Amino acid sequence: MIQEKAEILLNQNIALDHYKLVVKVDGLKDAIKPGQFFHIKAGTEYDPLLRRPLSVHRIGSKPNIIEFLYKVVGKGTHLISRRSKGTYLDVIGPIGNGFKVPKSQSNFVLIAGGMGVAPLVALAETLAGFRKRSITAIVGAKTKSCLTCNKELKELGAKLIVVTEDGSAGEKGFATSALTDIIEQFDLRKTDSPHVKKDAGHLTIGDYRPEVGLYACGPIPMLKAVSKIARKYRIQVQASMEERMGCGVGACLGCAVKTKRGYEMVCKDGPVFDLEDIVWE
Ligand SMILES: Cc1cc2nc3c(=O)[nH]c(=O)nc-3n(C[C@H](O)[C@H](O)[C@H](O)COP(=O)(O)OP(=O)(O)OC[C@H]3O[C@@H](n4cnc5c(N)ncnc54)[C@H](O)[C@@H]3O)c2cc1C
Ligand code: FES
Repeated sequence: MIQEKAEILLNQNIALDHYKLVVKVDGLKDAIKPGQFFHIKAGTEYDPLLRRPLSVHRIGSKPNIIEFLYKVVGKGTHLISRRSKGTYLDVIGPIGNGFKVPKSQSNFVLIAGGMGVAPLVALAETLAGFRKRSITAIVGAKTKSCLTCNKELKELGAKLIVVTEDGSAGEKGFATSALTDIIEQFDLRKTDSPHVKKDAGHLTIGDYRPEVGLYACGPIPMLKAVSKIARKYRIQVQASMEERMGCGVGACLGCAVKTKRGYEMVCKDGPVFDLEDIVWE
């Protein structure tokens, strides 16, 4: 992890309130993993004091070039959107564990709600490099104009399923509405291991079915619903959790989530968690 001045190569409005930010970070030493994020100083002075976390959206092939996708929701993201090409952003990163992608797995289902799509495109980018694999991306958004990654996901070889809350594109509903159908296509019932019983205890790595890996990012209600469906089919879900953040380095305890091991910090221990470990309140 480094603190660097990142040169802005592009900061473009691509849809209502949605921006693509491309930066050059010269001092990067470690390879960036999908699911990691950068903590970005939004203003040029001390207001706002706290940095804003943004997931890596595209890692790309050019060294030190990173792409972010963000939505303007408040002061911090508004200030970032005002920064112009050729100026510098103060960034800390890459932070966090990132998604683990077992090379033995060949069916990947990515499920995104809203801006949760941002890190999942970076994941699809990595998976696209695997030789034998199928990628299905379920992308849920409020309305058609918030769908900003369809083309990229298709280009990366993902089978794309779009779901919007108002029905303006794809199916009408939530991303999770499409999930059961997709899982059923893998025909898990025909394999040897029985489905998890209703009262099954904590699942561990050996209990998961190897056929499918589920990767999620989105609002908490979506993650809760994904967790419930995945548990029924005994599929592991790795989810990037988007808690509000302060320090970004595990010091302020501002991003705590309750897990079966106790409280853990999204910035230091995550942001990617096995959803089976999360205690929903
Ligand atoms: C690890 C991580 C990665 C993220 N990656 C992305 C990304 O790639 N693209 C992107 O657009 N956003 C991402 N976010 C969310 C982003 O950090 C927030 O939207 C941003 O910090 C809001 O700052 P603001 O000053 O603009 O808004 P604020 O004025 O701080 O808040 C405006 C509104 O947004 C809500 N909000 C703020 N932060 C969050 C949050 N973390 N989760 C849910 N609601 C929040 C507030 O409750 C409030 O209603 C990520 C968050 C985390 C923790
Ligand atoms: S943001 Fe401070 S502990 Fe995570």
